[in-house]
Amino acid sequence: MDMTTTLVDHTFRKDVRRCFEMQTYAIPARWLYDRRGSELFEEITELPEYYPTRTETALLKANGAAFAASTGSGRAVIEFGSGSSAKTPHLLKAIDPAAYVPIDISGAFLEHSASLLQDEFPKLPIYPVEADFMKRVALPDAVADMPKLGFFPGSTIGNMIARTSVDLLRFMRETLGEGAQLLIGIDRIKDPQILVDAYDDSAGVTAQFSLNLLHRINRELDGDIPVELFRHRAEWNDLYARIEIFLEAQQDLRFSIDGQGYELGKGQKLHIENSHKYGLRDARLMLRAGGWTPLHEWSDERDYFTLMLVEAHPYKHAP
Ligand code: TRP
Repeated sequence: MDMTTTLVDHTFRKDVRRCFEMQTYAIPARWLYDRRGSELFEEITELPEYYPTRTETALLKANGAAFAASTGSGRAVIEFGSGSSAKTPHLLKAIDPAAYVPIDISGAFLEHSASLLQDEFPKLPIYPVEADFMKRVALPDAVADMPKLGFFPGSTIGNMIARTSVDLLRFMRETLGEGAQLLIGIDRIKDPQILVDAYDDSAGVTAQFSLNLLHRINRELDGDIPVELFRHRAEWNDLYARIEIFLEAQQDLRFSIDGQGYELGKGQKLHIENSHKYGLRDARLMLRAGGWTPLHEWSDERDYFTLMLVEAHPYKHAP
């Protein structure tokens, strides 16, 4: 067994134990993405109800000329949490970049996606960096003197609570340096029913995706959780402007994990994800709090999703 697996096992076990033993009834969303979870998430992005992926991709395709005009050519594009880099080609085609630096926590995935992208852009220097983008990242020397454009699509920022998102934006500013630009995807506040449907689709794929977390516990941590006695729930929290995802026990139940027994009462909810949605002014304030000045915004005609281009201006105004 390699080091990474052992480490993942250990932190997964710790997080799951905290959920049931210390009764936080919350499990971090990162554990949703094992192989099966990642496949199911790909399926989610194609569901009729799940508008974010297709809306953002359409915005990237439609506004290439405007990106080129606002960022200019010759930038190093730094993508945070690049994953499959599925949306990246649209941006790279539009702006004639000098280099591409995909940052991802999963090294194997990173190499694979980078080599596919290299085939599509044979002349583009690509420097993959395996790192946790939630902290400051050391960029390759080769891009040190290039102007930078950060790329953070998918409204991934929405999966963080407010202070974590601002911390991340500040780290990104440190990583990219003063004068850098950042193109970030922001999912907008809309009719709550549309939001709930996007996170609880009629085909039940999203339910499978979140329930897979319990299957994963059973698979990897020697559990016997009766998964069929849990229900996937997506709720709009208006005060926090976010969708909250829970797994709810449908009756009193008992199970064990790693030989340790637990009980849950009927109606007990396990919290597994937040997805914050933003008004334009909310998003601008969050970005400014993180050290980024808004430059341009591109939205679809329904205002479901916005791409924001922001810049790390020198701090020159009164504090
Ligand atoms: N980051 C995605 C989002 O917030 C992930 C996601 C989509 C998700 N559907 C989900 C996470 C359901 C948990 C449960 O849109």
